[in-house]
Amino acid sequence: TLPKGVSYNAYLINDDKTAIIDTIKSGNLSDYIERLTSVLPEGRGIDYLIVNHMEPDHSGSIRMLRHLYPEMKIVGNKKTVEMIDAFYRITENIIEVKEGDVLDLGHHKVTFAMIPMVHWPESMVTYDATEKVLFSTDAFGGFSALEGGIFDDELDMVHYEYEILRYFANIVGRYAAPTQKAIAKVRVLQPKIICPAHGPIHRTNPWHIVDLYDKWSRHETDEGVVVVYGSMYGNTKFMTDAIARSISEAGIKDVFVHDVSRDNLSFMVADIWRYKGLVLGSCTYNTEL
Ligand SMILES: Cc1cc2nc3c(=O)[nH]c(=O)nc-3n(C[C@H](O)[C@H](O)[C@H](O)COP(=O)(O)O)c2cc1C
Ligand SMILES: [Fe+2]
Ligand SMILES: [Fe+2]
Repeated sequence: TLPKGVSYNAYLINDDKTAIIDTIKSGNLSDYIERLTSVLPEGRGIDYLIVNHMEPDHSGSIRMLRHLYPEMKIVGNKKTVEMIDAFYRITENIIEVKEGDVLDLGHHKVTFAMIPMVHWPESMVTYDATEKVLFSTDAFGGFSALEGGIFDDELDMVHYEYEILRYFANIVGRYAAPTQKAIAKVRVLQPKIICPAHGPIHRTNPWHIVDLYDKWSRHETDEGVVVVYGSMYGNTKFMTDAIARSISEAGIKDVFVHDVSRDNLSFMVADIWRYKGLVLGSCTYNTEL
């Protein structure tokens, strides 16, 4: 569930050669094309479409872009190239790249690093080595639409942090070990700006988001307890309230109580990921929990 929405960030490098980095869902295509053409210089087409990730929220516009810009070369790694064929039946005008390959756009020289399983097997990042800008796809992303501010210095990151955590815990979290490997690569690249495919762009404090992802993917937790319960007639709920109260009396300030039949699972997963303690309360019905 996305009560605050989610942003799909697609990027354009406007150089001697033009390159799009990832696209968006096909449903929002007309908005996307309008914005794209409004920033492209008069008469310019698209030379390259770099595909970091094949999930349809990012790759959904590939076919339409190919129709609009038939000369455009699609750039992806070996797995991506196979998936582009399987998903969209596109096999021509494709450049296959591997770790460390360089694509020269003029001023900007971009390179590629594989981050498998963050979030799919083909996931990779694109790094503009000239300007030190990392296009990190799902890595370092977060839920919530961008409500005015786009860059980290234009918005209050504290407001976005919970939705970034909820995204991490529900989308990337199960791939904690691959995330650690991706972070190690990013530390070597030393980007000045991190541009994820969802959520704010980190240009003032890129290490803040890396540190958050690092902490969460190392399973480092904050002091606090999450209490999750299910109750039909209220007895388990009664016990849960007593337990939550006693945790509080023991001096723990962050105590979050979730009713499994009412709260959305993604919020519970986010809280459980963040805090050290977890209490599960269930009653017994027909010998099952
Ligand atoms: C239909 C039904 C089946 C139950 N089955 C079991 C059971 O298999 N084992 C058990 O120990 N208690 C069983 N109970 C007792 C409940 O677990 C007990 O009443 C519990 O306090 C209910 O918790 P709640 O008020 O949070 O819903 C059952 C109760 C009902 C109404
Ligand atoms: Fe994804
Ligand atoms: Fe995504």
